[in-house]
Amino acid sequence: MRRPFIAANWKMNKTIRETESFLNEFISLVQDAKDVDIVIAPPFTALHTASTLLKNTNIQLSAQDIFYEDKGAYTGEVSPVMLTDIGCKHVIIGHSERRQYFHETDEIINKKIKAAKKHTLGVIFCIGESLQERESGKTFDVLKREIEEGLKDISPDGIVVAYEPIWAIGTGKTATTEQAQDAHKYIRERLASLYGNKANEIRILYGGSVTPDNIDALMACPDVDGALVGGASLKADSFARIVKFKR
Ligand code: 13P
Repeated sequence: MRRPFIAANWKMNKTIRETESFLNEFISLVQDAKDVDIVIAPPFTALHTASTLLKNTNIQLSAQDIFYEDKGAYTGEVSPVMLTDIGCKHVIIGHSERRQYFHETDEIINKKIKAAKKHTLGVIFCIGESLQERESGKTFDVLKREIEEGLKDISPDGIVVAYEPIWAIGTGKTATTEQAQDAHKYIRERLASLYGNKANEIRILYGGSVTPDNIDALMACPDVDGALVGGASLKADSFARIVKFKR
């Protein structure tokens, strides 16, 4: 059995004070949640505060991005060494917003995954098609390319894949359970072609307008092992309900 993995991607939201107030409420709401990995990815500026508050809790810290060099003249970037130093256990890599607004290519994403793994950070590797790609029947082609290029020469340990159809992100338009299961099944087949039986151990998360109202149905899909949650992770009670999904 794959252990469920529920992660919050706060994107560019929450100051230090807002992070403190969220975590003070959230930590107690989920302290009895045992059979699930709970992960929170605040913005870089709130990582230190979150790291301090999350010590000795059942919640793990993630960053939202990483650079692929350990140090040097890369103005504005944050290295894997800095992320482990501040207490991160995971990092989100290849989010569609980074691909779209910051021109991240499969090649850059591949370098970032390698750098994260070199420093034993867990990787939440995001893939997903646009509306136009879906409507023109290219969903599986896009997923295949993102998986094969992104994971080129990379071993599967520490990798969690997040399927986030771009048309479902922040739109309130969740994929149906059939659409999610179809894509997840296809992703697992592609992972199996790279990693054989080990693909059965890789967690595949769904992301895109996940809410307390649709999490239970999504988690009932055989190949959905968790969720990557944006908007609904910004309120403690809403994200706690998602963490405590019912199967
Ligand atoms: P929403 O849950 O706000 O749709 O965002 C999904 C997402 O992009 C998580 O990484």
